[in-house]
Amino acid sequence: MAFVVTDNCIQCKYTDCVEVCPVDCFHEGPNFLVIDPNECIDCALCVPECPAQAIFAEDDLPASELKFIQINNELSKKWPVITHSKDPLPEAAEWDGKPNKLPHLKR
Ligand code: SF4
Ligand code: F3S
Repeated sequence: MAFVVTDNCIQCKYTDCVEVCPVDCFHEGPNFLVIDPNECIDCALCVPECPAQAIFAEDDLPASELKFIQINNELSKKWPVITHSKDPLPEAAEWDGKPNKLPHLKR
């Protein structure tokens, strides 16, 4: 099992999550973060850090978010590691909570 970043991170990217990860398994794209499932140790420390509540244990994923298992796996191989938080995206507050942001994902 691993933890998974889901839809509500897209266009928000608050990055609070990366500060607490003991194994540096977050990877950063233009408007989304993903977790490398091969590095995640399932500590759950990142879950309460996310202001957008976008991180779930794989076993707790709502049905609508199951597609993010494959997306985290694929993009973590492509994107660089991020280990320190930075400013959220400028329109994070407006995007937080909007449904179905996947079409906005920039790869
Ligand atoms: Fe990192 Fe732990 Fe979150 Fe996995 S569950 S991404 S190891 S903080
Ligand atoms: Fe995304 Fe939440 Fe981290 S919005 S960048 S998963 S703090």
